[in-house]
Amino acid sequence: SGSGLPLMVQRTLAKQVSLIERIGKGRYGEVWRGSWYADSVAVKIFFSRDEASWRRETEIYSTVLLRHDNILAYIGSDMTSRNSCTQLWLITHFHPLGSLYEHLSRTTLTRHQMMLICLSIVNGLLHLHTDIHGTQGKPAIAHRDIKSKNILVKVNGECCIADLGLAVTRRHVAGAGAGAPHAPHAPDARQGTRRYMSPEVLDLSMNLQCFESYRRCDIYALALVFWETCRRVRPAREHRPPFYELAPADPSFDDMRKIVCVDNARPEPPLDPTDPHPTMVGMANLMRECWHQNPSVRLPALRIKKTLLKLAANDNS
Ligand code: ADE
Repeated sequence: SGSGLPLMVQRTLAKQVSLIERIGKGRYGEVWRGSWYADSVAVKIFFSRDEASWRRETEIYSTVLLRHDNILAYIGSDMTSRNSCTQLWLITHFHPLGSLYEHLSRTTLTRHQMMLICLSIVNGLLHLHTDIHGTQGKPAIAHRDIKSKNILVKVNGECCIADLGLAVTRRHVAGAGAGAPHAPHAPDARQGTRRYMSPEVLDLSMNLQCFESYRRCDIYALALVFWETCRRVRPAREHRPPFYELAPADPSFDDMRKIVCVDNARPEPPLDPTDPHPTMVGMANLMRECWHQNPSVRLPALRIKKTLLKLAANDNS
């Protein structure tokens, strides 16, 4: 079709879903809890100006078999008309605990709960980042908007990664040169959430044609999410977003560039100065490697997963 929409998109799904309560609202649009054949589902309603994100997320979910415990499960997409206004819906599983951001604002964690959160996030990211060949295969995908608000907490204490509206594959970035994009959706480096942007995105030194650079940006943002999560381990500090003491609410690109590139500031990993626990020391070292100024020394997701498994296995107290 001329619209470029996958044929799989179900245009009648919205008729089967009833919206029950609004559970979120932001720049992207709204999220509702809905009901679909007696199941609770989440309905993300995009503002029509953000049609590109809806299209991107719909395309990724419809062309790639993305079933993984640590990636938000997709049900379908729909484009409907309400009062002659186009509505773009993305329907997924519903998770009553909401985002990791909300969860951390509400609760403190044991080290065990913290490890389960961090391990499950990196497990989801590892699946996204990995090329799988074969009939049930998938291309490697970079997320490009990892943050605590885009991660959902499941009732079993694990997390799943949501919001694939900026996701790219190797195919998308190849040939997407500055000024002369050959790819249909040449990614713009300045997309994503400024607070979580890596130094190479902020100082425009990132190689936009190299898929690996996008994975490394995800790893930088993951380290900031680990920091937020570790702060809530008892005895907990208050939940804060990364750079809360340095950046204003809704920081500008230039605010973040000064903090992250010029001053080379990073969050202070939470450690009890009188009695630092080995697990928390391990997490602090891991964060420092993953938010490193030099993208090429950041650890790949598989290495992070193995380090976390080792830290968890050695934590018997
Ligand atoms: N907030 C955003 N997406 C959600 C989902 N799938 N379940 C619960 N809360 C959400």
